[in-house]
Amino acid sequence: MEVSSNTMRKRTRQTIVGFRDRESSNVRQLRLEPRQMITTFRLPLRAAFNCKRGAFRLLGVTVTLVCTLRHHVFVRYITRLIGSVRLWWTAEFQRSQTDIHDWVREQRSIIDFSFAGASKPLETLPIRAAANRGVADAFGIVNSLTTPSPELHKVFLKTASQTVNRSNRDWSILYDIAQACLQRDISNAATANNRHLLLAESVRCTCLTVVIVDNFNVDPSTLPRFLLVVITEQINTQWLKSKSAEQTSPDRSTLLHHTIKSLGLKVDNQLLTPEQMLALIMPQYETLWRVVLLTYILAYHRHPATLQALEKRVADVPDCLGDRSREQEAIKVAKEGLRLTPSNKRIYRSVDGITTKADVERSHRDPRIWGSDSLVFRPDRFDDLTPLQKEAYFPYSIRPHKCPAFTGFGDRMVTMLVVCFGQAMGLGKGTVILGNKPAADLDMLPSGRDEMEGFRFVLH
Ligand code: HEM
Repeated sequence: MEVSSNTMRKRTRQTIVGFRDRESSNVRQLRLEPRQMITTFRLPLRAAFNCKRGAFRLLGVTVTLVCTLRHHVFVRYITRLIGSVRLWWTAEFQRSQTDIHDWVREQRSIIDFSFAGASKPLETLPIRAAANRGVADAFGIVNSLTTPSPELHKVFLKTASQTVNRSNRDWSILYDIAQACLQRDISNAATANNRHLLLAESVRCTCLTVVIVDNFNVDPSTLPRFLLVVITEQINTQWLKSKSAEQTSPDRSTLLHHTIKSLGLKVDNQLLTPEQMLALIMPQYETLWRVVLLTYILAYHRHPATLQALEKRVADVPDCLGDRSREQEAIKVAKEGLRLTPSNKRIYRSVDGITTKADVERSHRDPRIWGSDSLVFRPDRFDDLTPLQKEAYFPYSIRPHKCPAFTGFGDRMVTMLVVCFGQAMGLGKGTVILGNKPAADLDMLPSGRDEMEGFRFVLH
């Protein structure tokens, strides 16, 4: 191999004055060029040479040379250490990114049924129906989410799609209805001794009222609160039973069926059976109330410093809802709420008696995907999502059975209700507490059904 004379000269110079630093397999030159050497040595050397006595002069020059060389040996080791740490960190980061990518793909393969090699409704629906059997039995409902039949699935999906895509929906009317529910709850709390209200109960009754009015076009005054309390509590109890490991097939609640029947809800002038009412209401009400409760607390009671920005973001609600050019900023509140507190924390599939779950909540919170502030409520992260974040975000599931509300209705409903709560029960009007602790002081908001029952709004 021929080496040019220039290169030879360079190498000789480096060997004389340089250090070789090995960083992984790369050899890196950490050289002290002659010019730098002169600059580094110049001042201390000149001082040493200026010494009058020969012995001091010799000592001065020696000490200066030793110190300078030691300094550069130290620098070399520190640089090597930093280099190694940096390499290790990069390798770890790359490995964790590959891992998290694979993990997200695995979750998606569970949700889209490809893990089981299924793609047609005839194959996918039984897999979902088997996983949702507990809920179907506990409520006696047949709908898209519980049926293995493609025909029934199609009929129900059509009804649901018509409901969410209705063009003449007036968000201001729904907002006023929700406000009226909250004002009633606040007035009741104001006259109570402890001046507090049970938040979970208030959110449940308000969400159910809005869902029923929106679906059945009834007058809200025909929905007495005490009946709504019974219905929502019974739904909660039945839901918990359906998910409990010991209870394979929970008994239906006659109280629930009797109470919901008393509402006399009709479609096309036909009285619905309790099972039909629940089949229509459940996919909407159940996905709404928890995310509304938690998003309201996150948005209005956890970060007082960001309250002003939030209020600006939602200033046009409810008027802007339904107008795509005006609602974008406001609905990021719902998107962020659905990220941190997804309505379906897990999505279940069952094949041959073995149930598999996709972890939606983890996918929405993992710091490797969402950054070190992954647990902070920050709607502006939806200004610009990375490709991995887009892939890891699926509050409405993914194809082939994506929720019909994903086109905007779900986000609008959540935004409208959260803002309504924020206006009626914001920080200026009272404090949200759990036990004795204000929501702002909790490390994490609990999202389990039982734990959420403890939230109270205490009026100032
Ligand atoms: C914030 C609101 C909502 C959220 C987060 C949500 C979430 C979901 C999710 C995760 C699924 C898929 C479940 C699975 O694959 O096992 C789903 C499916 C479904 N949802 Fe929703 N939902 C919401 C509102 C609604 C509303 C308002 C309706 C009806 C008016 C509705 C009707 C349905 C139906 C019919 C399906 C089954 C779709 C299919 O099988 O193709 N959802 N929803």
